[in-house]
Amino acid sequence: MKKISSIEDYNSQYKKSVEQPEAFWADVAENFTWKKKWDSVLKWDFKNYDVKWFLNAKLNITENCIDRHLPQKANDIAFIWESNFEDKPNRTITYQQLHDEVCKLANTLKSFGVVKGDRVCIYMPMIPESVFAMLACARIGAVHSVVFAGFSASSLAGRIQDCDCKVVLTSDGAYRGDKIINLKNVVDEALEICPSVKNVLVYKHTNTTVSINSSRDKWWGDLVPNASDKCEPEVMDSEDMLFILYTSGSTGKPKGVVHTCGGYMVYTCYSFLNVFQYNPGDLYWCTADVGWITGHSYITYGPLLAGASSIIFEGVPTYPDAGRFWKIIDKYKVTHFYTAPTAIRALEALGLDFVKPYRLNSLKVLGSVGEPINEEAWQWYNTNIGKEKCPIVDTWWQTETGGILISPLAGITKTKPSYATLPLPGVQPILVDEKGNEIKGNNVEGNLCIKFPWPSIIRTTYGDHERCKQTYFATYNNLYFTGDGCKRDENGYYRITGRVDDVMNVSGHRIGTAEVESAINAHADVVESAVVGYPHDIKGQGIYAYCIVPSSKKSHEELRKEIIAEVNKIIGPIAKPDKIQIVTGLPKTRSGKIMRRILRKVAEGEINNLGDTSTLLDPAVVEEIVKGAL
Ligand code: WT7
Repeated sequence: MKKISSIEDYNSQYKKSVEQPEAFWADVAENFTWKKKWDSVLKWDFKNYDVKWFLNAKLNITENCIDRHLPQKANDIAFIWESNFEDKPNRTITYQQLHDEVCKLANTLKSFGVVKGDRVCIYMPMIPESVFAMLACARIGAVHSVVFAGFSASSLAGRIQDCDCKVVLTSDGAYRGDKIINLKNVVDEALEICPSVKNVLVYKHTNTTVSINSSRDKWWGDLVPNASDKCEPEVMDSEDMLFILYTSGSTGKPKGVVHTCGGYMVYTCYSFLNVFQYNPGDLYWCTADVGWITGHSYITYGPLLAGASSIIFEGVPTYPDAGRFWKIIDKYKVTHFYTAPTAIRALEALGLDFVKPYRLNSLKVLGSVGEPINEEAWQWYNTNIGKEKCPIVDTWWQTETGGILISPLAGITKTKPSYATLPLPGVQPILVDEKGNEIKGNNVEGNLCIKFPWPSIIRTTYGDHERCKQTYFATYNNLYFTGDGCKRDENGYYRITGRVDDVMNVSGHRIGTAEVESAINAHADVVESAVVGYPHDIKGQGIYAYCIVPSSKKSHEELRKEIIAEVNKIIGPIAKPDKIQIVTGLPKTRSGKIMRRILRKVAEGEINNLGDTSTLLDPAVVEEIVKGAL
């Protein structure tokens, strides 16, 4: 695929993508292997939400990720795996080995009776087998649903039930720094309430003792190595489901975002190559977990579609010490490094002594993703890691967008700290006010929407299309609403300012306030709670919970511990409240609505500027809350 080569080239590509979107994307799509080409490029309707790309085209994404590269690249590195432990030998996986492993696993899934359209849950650590697992599903047309291995049994069960997974792929355990997490135990607990699961395939990784239910559970090592390494790719329609990935919103349970084969393939490859400007011989490293969309699009699919070589890292940035990222970059001569602002801020706080021992001179491009990057972190990253010679691509996108929508193109777009800058070709952002009126011109701020479909746009929320319509297409007429606030500067550069709905972004993880509240309310003594985000130096946002616990005999300290345990149990440690304030009431309007605005102000420490409280049912509650603020 020919990459955009200059800002003039970008401008003319962008223009073409808006004036002739179908011709533009058809040209891009020509770069792939299709079993049958499309009859038409795009059909769309944002009102009765329905979007289809490359209609009636047939393909298999794994053929494009793997087989297509084999004639030239069979022995090129697809992945280098770096263990949690720095003294443990690494693993390299060539494209040929990737092919063989994926086929063997695909055949193993077939032996369990998995067929095209079946859902398979992947609950695994950051090991190459997780990528094999996703691709093995895609090879046979099964739909993968990867669940981040930090989620609790109850979250895992909810996700398995929502899409009726037939099989779960997991491992005995996962290493995270100096901890071992017993994943198989979590799966066992989850499956007590998941009758749809007929088989569990367990990869032995940590040698942790696990219980094996012999009719259901099989060891990976007993089956996969003996399976055939040939597996014909299933012929998929462009709009057949590729995967489901659950994500949080402002209300209700997490929803299963659905992506389909053709458009997702075209867009992840296109965006990967153009944003990162990856060239043959480069070595790319994205530090995300495959449990999030970043891992799907920019560890697994985008880089493989582009035939790139990547690092997969199992560990954490601070183990054995805060120099681990930089050590790995020097060890393998990483050229492209893509991480989250929260990691940058955490490492910045630990001091430059952990950076200084490393040369970092292989680096060419730095990336940021998951949350707004504050100017200080941007500068630190630019100066100390990029040595002021690596463009920083601040990539804005979402689980629902499938790929990066707004970002500099490395070395092409002039960067500006904390700005995601310009839309990729094919992406048409628009800012609107509360009523949905377009805010035109520059130097303005509003709610970020997109007015035209791009190939990897969400197709539906699994099992509930109405929810997809309501969540993304009902707020504003004929627009996809992102949920983000956004500024446009004098040059037309975009800066994402954060969520404008009840979704928090904690260390780059998206967590709905309603979800945390419902977990807290599961504690027997809690009668009501309200959760808001507040600015946090490292995490971006912290979680602040106000809890009403009227008749409890327990101390506040004890209650806090128990509430945290409840959240860990129901969601997982990523949703654990940072602050819990026990209150006797919540500020409510006369109609009973919680005034979150006031709770946010208190959590932010802005107690002198609470705004209008005259419509409150009981203004005295506010006084108490302010006095007890943490
Ligand atoms: C939300 C999406 C995109 C993959 C990881 C997160 C925030 C994401 C940026 C950025 C400012 C960002 C937005 C968005 N976000 N990237 N570069 N600058 N904000 O995916 O879990 O679906 O979360 O993350 O608020 O809506 P996600």
